[in-house]
Amino acid sequence: MLVSAKEMLTKAKAGKYAVGQFNINNLEWTKSILLTAQELNSPVILGVSEGAGKYMCGYKTIVGMVNGMLEELNITVPVALHLDHGSYEGALKCIEAGFSSVMFDGSHYPIEENVAKTTELVALCNEKGISIEAEVGSIGGEEDGVVGAGECADPDECKMIADLGVTMLAAGIGNIHGKYPENWAGLSFETLDAVQQKTGDMPLVLHGGTGIPADMIQKAISLGVSKINVNTECQLAFQEATRKYIEAGKDLEGKGFDPRKLLAPGAEAIKATVKEKMELFGSVGKA
Ligand code: 13P
Repeated sequence: MLVSAKEMLTKAKAGKYAVGQFNINNLEWTKSILLTAQELNSPVILGVSEGAGKYMCGYKTIVGMVNGMLEELNITVPVALHLDHGSYEGALKCIEAGFSSVMFDGSHYPIEENVAKTTELVALCNEKGISIEAEVGSIGGEEDGVVGAGECADPDECKMIADLGVTMLAAGIGNIHGKYPENWAGLSFETLDAVQQKTGDMPLVLHGGTGIPADMIQKAISLGVSKINVNTECQLAFQEATRKYIEAGKDLEGKGFDPRKLLAPGAEAIKATVKEKMELFGSVGKA
């Protein structure tokens, strides 16, 4: 059964480790992530962007697929199904469809509007026992075609949003989605420290988990980060493994490519990436 992310993140914050959010794009990715979490006895959050939601035939299809896998694969570790960077309308649809967690990304609205919309969604999520993530200070890079510059959040605005009763808070600290540029200034631990001091026990979320050096990840966890999002790294691993398989050209004869064989190396590569991240984040054995 899917669970809200609240309990796993409260435990992570208290235990000074982070739960990984791994974004899914298809059946193979989802299965790889769930099997790895089970094997490592780690809690896990499956992230779904609105674009991936459309690709996978809508939120109801995803809920059906994930619930089916939890049962058929005998997954007993805590699993949350979470909308990543949701719009207000997207969050409503996911709540309706059976997601156990949503992110409402109101970071591009003026703070008053972010507060108003977040307040409304918090009430709805509380009613249904669903966890909710809010964002302050836009995360840089590209996410579903929207490009942000990687701002540092204002700690007072973070407190304002945290006080609305959200479950977890994503604060921009110079992090970027996708690959980091050569001249990246690194995470602003000063901002993170100030946000944590203002928001107390609130689990903080680090987006853009791909390519952040291990020592920065560990420092961020020590300063209150309890959820780390990873997407691009799984995409790159999947792409590279698939490319190698195609280049080897084994199945070009006869019936052509067998999709089950074609996608298998990518699925294995995702397992390896997820394992490496769970070990780095410290969530292994914490289910
Ligand atoms: P990366 O694509 O950089 O791993 O970021 C993922 C993310 O933050 C999803 O919200």
